[in-house]
Amino acid sequence: MNEFRLFPQSASSISGDVDRAYFFLIAVATFFTGLIFVLIVYFALRYSRKRNPNPEHVHTSYTLEIVWTIIPLIIVIVIFSWGAKIYVHALTVPDGAMEIHVLAKQWMWKTQHPTGQREINELHIPVGRPVRLMMASQDVIHSFYVPAFRIKRDVDPGRFNQMWFEVTAAGEYHLFCAEYCGSGHSSMIGRIVAMDPGAYQQWLAGTPAQEPPVRSGEKLFVQFACNTCHGQRAPTLAGLYGRRVQLADGSTLIADDNYIRESILSPNAKFVAGYPPLMPTYQSLMSEEQLIDLVAYIKSLKNAAGDTGILPVPPK
Ligand code: CUA
Repeated sequence: MNEFRLFPQSASSISGDVDRAYFFLIAVATFFTGLIFVLIVYFALRYSRKRNPNPEHVHTSYTLEIVWTIIPLIIVIVIFSWGAKIYVHALTVPDGAMEIHVLAKQWMWKTQHPTGQREINELHIPVGRPVRLMMASQDVIHSFYVPAFRIKRDVDPGRFNQMWFEVTAAGEYHLFCAEYCGSGHSSMIGRIVAMDPGAYQQWLAGTPAQEPPVRSGEKLFVQFACNTCHGQRAPTLAGLYGRRVQLADGSTLIADDNYIRESILSPNAKFVAGYPPLMPTYQSLMSEEQLIDLVAYIKSLKNAAGDTGILPVPPK
């Protein structure tokens, strides 16, 4: 019976907030449903033809109109602002979150730790530390869902999706795919193993590590000859991540994971101001796994100040 719960465990830093908002919604809905049913029965009896043979003419009461407009308005404003606050918090990745790579495919979850350890349908993580998932799909839309953490995010092919959480209690939690993705969808399940930081370090030490993503990305950077242009004829990538970039069409954007991804696959989509559009496309030359690694490497590049910096825009 322990496996069958009416309500999932609550094990992340936001799950308590999500539950309180959820129970508030249930309470509001239950109250008004009950009120409406009671009034239906009361009015049906009170104003039946037998008890009320000559109906009076009813005049509009503005007080009543205003009251039953204002009260629901206040309630929905509360629901909206409360929900929006939780949603924004759930979307805003805290600084210093540990980045885990997730690759979804029919029908499994492949995960990789910053130190290189790979897992299939499993993810070991430390308790009490924000974890950011950088997720990509190799085929169709999947959805990463951990009920105990109250988080769920689609993983779309052709882009990176991110999500973060911080686990509050050690234990094992269900991982589901929550988007129908083919005949093996129901078997696309796994578990999240949350461990105390010390136990996690031990787990890392005892698990054979493949090459860390940043190292693999560094090799790809040379293998695809990115280094022959970037920093010379093409803008340097050092300090690019997270900075505002000036584009050739006059607009600007923040260089995030998806911008770097798009610039590798479709370089001309958003071209940096001041440089000739010479970069070839790497569409169909790179697997999703290679893209994740390459982007991880580019994100790791610091500029001379040891920090991130604005892309240099040379004089025209
Ligand atoms: Cu993957 Cu459903």
